[in-house]
Formats: sequence, structure tokens, C-alpha cells
Amino acid sequence: MIKVLFVCLGNICRSPLAEAVFNSKVNSLTLEADSAGTAAYHIGKQPDHRSIKVAQDNNIPINHRARQFVVEDFDRFDYVIAMDENNRKDMEGLSRTEVKNLYLLREFDLESEGELDVPDPYYGGYDGFVEIYEMIDRSIDELLKHINNESKK
Ligand code: 4NP
Repeated sequence: MIKVLFVCLGNICRSPLAEAVFNSKVNSLTLEADSAGTAAYHIGKQPDHRSIKVAQDNNIPINHRARQFVVEDFDRFDYVIAMDENNRKDMEGLSRTEVKNLYLLREFDLESEGELDVPDPYYGGYDGFVEIYEMIDRSIDELLKHINNESKK
């Protein structure tokens, strides 16, 4: 089993959507995703209603309760995937040893044009959720190819 953890700030908008998209694309016997947030604000909450809507509009089951990232997650997961640079720095700052399994999701976005953050959509409108869904969807296709290639080495 290869385990992937998607991480954002609140764990209610971006990362639960990434978890749901990833899980909808894979066979859960070999690959599995979870998500977490660097902040504690929303622990125990369901995803934001706008992430639920964009998932449902794309026929993707979404079911998660927010939890906070802990440094042990670097050992529990094969890949830890941050939504933006702040999330990446916050997680790296928790570890006393060198972290080797931490990535930014948009490192896998063929349309990133150098912009490596999935923008925080929380204070914007629904359009922002459609935009991040599209980024997440196309990045995860490439992430899956990467994981598949690495697993053959
Ligand atoms: P997320 O979005 O990190 O994608 O879950 C946010 C959710 C809540 C807040 C910020 C970002 N907040 O400030 O409460």
C-alpha cells in the first residue's frame, strides 16, 4: 500500500478535495490518500460546502473530517503533498531531521507556468473552487504517473 497525504492550511477546502480526487482515480487496495491541515482551526469539521459542491458536480465522493498535521505523518505516509509554499514550510519546520518525501502539488502541474501554489480559495467565490479543482485534477494525473514510475524502480 502506497499512502499519500495532501496538506493545506485549514483541511476544509483544498486538501480534502485533493484527497477525494486522488481516491476517485485509484484502486484503494494499492494506493490511498488522506488529508490534513497545518492549522488547528477546523479540527473535526466537514469540508467547506463549496469543496463538497465542486466534488459532487464532478461525481467525486467526498467524506473527511479535518485533522491537524503532525510530524509523525512524514513517517506514516510515502508522499506528503503541500498545497502551497506556506504549508510546505510549516511542515518542514516541525521536523528535526531532513524531510525527503515532501512535495508541492503543482510541481506536478503541466500548466503551472512557474506558479507552484494552489491558491487558498477560502475568502473568494465559488469560481475559485472550480479553478482549484481543475488544478488539482490535472496535477494528480501527473502525480499518479510519478508514483507509478517510482514504484517500478
Ligand atoms: P484550506 O482553506 O487551507 O484550503 O482548507 C482555508 C480554510 C480556512 C481558513 C483558511 C484557509 N481559515 O482561515 O479559517
